Amino acid sequence: MKKDFLSILDVNKTELDEIITGAERLKRQKRAGVPHELLRGMSLAMIFEKSSTRTHISFEVGMHELGGHALFLNAKDLQIGRGEEIRDTARVASRYVSAIMIRAYHHSTIVDLATHATVPVINGLSDHEHPCQLLADILTIKEHFGDTRGLRIAWVGDGNNVCNSLVLSTALTGMEVTVASPKGYEVAPELVSQAQGLGGKVSLAKTPREAVKDAQVIVTDTWISMGDEAEKEKRLCAFHGYTVNDELVKHADPDARVLHCLPAHRGEEITGEVLDGPQSLVWDEAENRLHAQKALLVRLLKK
Ligand code: CP
Ligand code: NVA
Repeated sequence: MKKDFLSILDVNKTELDEIITGAERLKRQKRAGVPHELLRGMSLAMIFEKSSTRTHISFEVGMHELGGHALFLNAKDLQIGRGEEIRDTARVASRYVSAIMIRAYHHSTIVDLATHATVPVINGLSDHEHPCQLLADILTIKEHFGDTRGLRIAWVGDGNNVCNSLVLSTALTGMEVTVASPKGYEVAPELVSQAQGLGGKVSLAKTPREAVKDAQVIVTDTWISMGDEAEKEKRLCAFHGYTVNDELVKHADPDARVLHCLPAHRGEEITGEVLDGPQSLVWDEAENRLHAQKALLVRLLKK
């Protein structure tokens, strides 16, 4: 049976541990110049409906380093851009490639693709989740703190796709997540209940300051995700007071670290001082997309 990775909950605790350990090993091997062509001869189709820097580069380089090949496919240039059904693309692409990674506006598009593909499908970001980002974030947190269990994490900002994956991941990692979002932009209550029902520790705070109190990690993301551009002005107003700045970080644990999946908007959700400052782990976080996704690809594809 093929395995997909559409949600962070598509892996269990053991599988997540194995992916993170695998990523650490692949990172060491790359640094030491040890070849690790575990996917020689395999191909990954990468379908993008939206822009990408990190996801595109890290998957393409990752497949190359694993001895395989990646194809960048802009959805507009495929026949799906002219109305071909996603299920037909899924069936046909499955005859050519070993796996498909897709970044789509609607999560339902990814589910549709996965339902009809006979090869593994990876969610490279949808409106609902960004599970690959969470693999990199968990790897980054583990590298820095040694363990994820019991760590206090604050999410400050939009209850968006990355927030959803973070909240769900508490069921696997033992991290305790507190979310502060402005009214109208909160994480969906069903999602919080889902995480809690699986043993995840999630709470909601009324203000960013309440969320970051004693937090060991502060996470934020853009206030205007891809697809939300029409609401730009409304969102800039609604998120006033939610900037992760030096003043807010002072209320966290003195050794707290800051994560942001990038791209960042200095002066909006985060200040340049914090993003580029000593408590920021964002560049390691971005690098770790590569190592974490290589481990994911090996897990999904190696016989
Ligand atoms: N964090 C992330 O997914 O970045 P890109 O949009 O550049 O891929
Ligand atoms: N929440 C952002 C993440 C970008 C990587 C978006 O969906 O645009």
